[in-house]
Amino acid sequence: MKQLAERIESREALIGVVGLGYVGLPLAELFARKGYKVLGFDVSSERAAMINRGKNYIDDVRDEDLKQAVDAGLLSATTDMSRLAECECLSICVPTPLGKTKEPDLSYIHAVVVELKKYARAGQLLVLESTTYPGTTDDEMAAPLLAGHPEWEIGRDIFIAFSPERVDPSNPVYKTENTPKVVGGCTPACTELARLLYSKVISPVHTVSSTMTAELVKLLENTYRNVNIAWANEFAMICRKLGVDVWEIIQAASTKPFGFQAFYPGPGLGGHCIPIDPQYLAWKMRALNFPSRMIEVSDQVNSGMPHYVVHLVMETLNEQAIALKGSNIACLGVAYKANVDDVRESPALDVMYELQKRGANISFHDPFVPSIQLGGQTMSSHVLTPDYLAGSDLVLVLTNHDGVDYQMVASHARQVVDTRNAMRGTSGGSIVRL
Ligand SMILES: NC(=O)c1ccc[n+]([C@@H]2O[C@H](COP(=O)([O-])OP(=O)(O)OC[C@H]3O[C@@H](n4cnc5c(N)ncnc54)[C@H](O)[C@@H]3O)[C@@H](O)[C@H]2O)c1
Repeated sequence: MKQLAERIESREALIGVVGLGYVGLPLAELFARKGYKVLGFDVSSERAAMINRGKNYIDDVRDEDLKQAVDAGLLSATTDMSRLAECECLSICVPTPLGKTKEPDLSYIHAVVVELKKYARAGQLLVLESTTYPGTTDDEMAAPLLAGHPEWEIGRDIFIAFSPERVDPSNPVYKTENTPKVVGGCTPACTELARLLYSKVISPVHTVSSTMTAELVKLLENTYRNVNIAWANEFAMICRKLGVDVWEIIQAASTKPFGFQAFYPGPGLGGHCIPIDPQYLAWKMRALNFPSRMIEVSDQVNSGMPHYVVHLVMETLNEQAIALKGSNIACLGVAYKANVDDVRESPALDVMYELQKRGANISFHDPFVPSIQLGGQTMSSHVLTPDYLAGSDLVLVLTNHDGVDYQMVASHARQVVDTRNAMRGTSGGSIVRL
């Protein structure tokens, strides 16, 4: 342990980052920017080749920072998993999606563990960062590794920890570097090494007593968002029934300086975290015969939102004696949230798919997303012009990207349904808000 601690301290330790996506690439670039030599691992040869050419593909990484790290020989990438053996510290940032019936899909973590069983060596620090259910680090990573190396003792020969990734893509203030990091190891020695490693590049680092505690920190954070968004969505439906403006109420409630945090309604949840992570916890608790009612109810409310929006569109068209079938609907924004290019789990796609299935002619504009797959077909982003807006029966705002000229939308659209309050501050036009 002392030797690895000294090598981390002196920045001589070679850092490996496994999975170079939205989470892994910013982390790899950060270690390199802080003076560590970093070897990135990915199954995508295209991604590895891009990095080795100094080409960036993640918005939260600055092109010039990536190029500088590669040119300085501090950052490189490979698909050759045998090179895991070269690294002294490894952070694992592979996907943890859901299967078809909302059960955890740990296949990416399992694939990494298969490689670690072959190439991990004594003296390494292994940190899992992928969001997952409580118990994963011990049961799915440490146990199989030790089964292959019965001579190892955790905390003496090999060091294993969990540290939840907290990336918030496109956040202008909080990046990997200044978002506090939580770490919990299998043993106190594991926690201490992981704390030391991350404290060299991220401030502050907060240690917790176990890997399971660290896993649950992430699940508490993201379930908190999921549940509160569900309440904002249900509250929006309540307000609609009562004929009052939910956005005005949230704005007014936000003036309270304590005891209230604003969450906003929308067409549903999206992205690789908020809709998914609570399901990992719910699955684990079902297995322990303790179903989480909060998660189940929130999921029902949130996953019903796309259908609620479709209904709102139908009602709005109906007011103008227009049938949904055959109508032209221009959708603004398909990314799962503002100012990102990520459409994973985007509720916009669910809304558009349901509208299309009911016979509407769907098109979209998204300054961040050039094309999408909808109903098995590729659809390209339309240029946003007065003619495009005026030629549609209804404009449906599904994502509130900055930089869209919403006043032009108000001035030219025949009818707008706004699920994000993006049209606030515009004048004129016929606007129905969620
Ligand atoms: N995206 C976010 O905003 C965010 C935020 C916090 C936490 N997380 C969590 O971080 C984890 C990673 O998410 P992401 O958004 O970075 O995913 P991503 O899909 O953007 O990136 C994952 C990368 O891992 C690679 N990969 C897949 N299998 C691999 C393997 N066996 N070996 C090596 N590389 C492999 C993929 O090719 C891809 O480049 C997930 O558990 C997610 O829940 C994501």
